[in-house]
Amino acid sequence: MQIKNKKIRNASITAVGMYVPEKILDNKYFESIVETNDEWITSRTGIRERRIMENGATSDMAAKACEDLFKTTNVKPEEIDAIIVATVTPDMFFPATACLVQEKIGAKNAWGFDLSAACSGFLFALQTGASLVESGSYQKVLVIGSDKMSSIVDYTDRNTCILFGDGASAVLLEPSDDLNYGIKDSLLYVDGSGKNALNMKAGGSALPSSHETVDQKLHYIYQDGKAVFKVAVKGMADISYEIMQRNDLKSEDVSYLVPHQANLRIIDATAQRMGISKDKVMINIDKYGNTTAATIPLCLTEYYRAGKVKKGDNLILSAFGAGYTWGAIYLTWAID
Ligand code: COA
Repeated sequence: MQIKNKKIRNASITAVGMYVPEKILDNKYFESIVETNDEWITSRTGIRERRIMENGATSDMAAKACEDLFKTTNVKPEEIDAIIVATVTPDMFFPATACLVQEKIGAKNAWGFDLSAACSGFLFALQTGASLVESGSYQKVLVIGSDKMSSIVDYTDRNTCILFGDGASAVLLEPSDDLNYGIKDSLLYVDGSGKNALNMKAGGSALPSSHETVDQKLHYIYQDGKAVFKVAVKGMADISYEIMQRNDLKSEDVSYLVPHQANLRIIDATAQRMGISKDKVMINIDKYGNTTAATIPLCLTEYYRAGKVKKGDNLILSAFGAGYTWGAIYLTWAID
């Protein structure tokens, strides 16, 4: 049972930043490498193009997103207390990508760690970061979603290669004594019985990398798309509705749904269940595809910078991903 605690302070997002690589792969490109077509990809997924990082790793994108964030705030890297990197494509198993980001951005007083929750990674990291801030022990926490999905995509598998892209985005969490703003509630879940439907089988302790695992392409993403679609569409819609219910939010109280961008049809079904219109749904899947942990903060950054999100707006963030993992967060936007 996830209890709504009485808080003495909230954690608020006080700055945002993003980075997407320059190289674009559009749907036409995929027509030249696998048997597919633009019409199929667009109508089944909503994706038109995605970005690909040619040189560099997840930590490089994350560091660039942080640098972009620091341009917009007076907070200096050395003031950061903690760095949480949500990713399924860490630079290495260890050290954690958070350590590499810490060095790259010069956050010399920070501790940090990576968080692995696939497409729900940003939500899990945001709630974890918020708890650090609400505890009173930490004042400035960077929460980053960064994934170089191209490093684990099999570009001969049409079922998955069209879906994913690379990108990173970061938010800064700081305490807010005014409880009208910031992160107000979260509902987060895991269910390991979904492990066989979406995974990367090799390279871990269960199946260490070997010639055989590479020959069998087990170091790439595997997804049973149909099975995942079924549970994702229900899971994301239900959790988004549930968090509205438990916070007495009606459709008209929600300024934006900020959904994980895996498939436009899943997003549409979630909005429908919440009773909110399309103009109140943040979308960037057409430009970036599924960037896993980065989709939600990329949406937040782009919509805020376009002047579409205002201080006081109520946002429902929701996601579903491998694990299974899923969840929703209710927050009130705190930046002018
Ligand atoms: N181009 C053309 N045809 C393709 C294709 C492609 N890129 N990829 C798959 N197909 C084919 C399939 O082989 C299948 O052919 P078949 O019927 O002859 O076997 C047919 O299209 C339909 O496949 P299906 O899996 O039913 O398509 P779909 O409508 O479910 O869409 C996904 C596929 C992957 C887009 C969809 O299942 C999905 O989005 N799944 C969930 C993704 C998700 O949320 N992941 C969690 C977070 S990462």
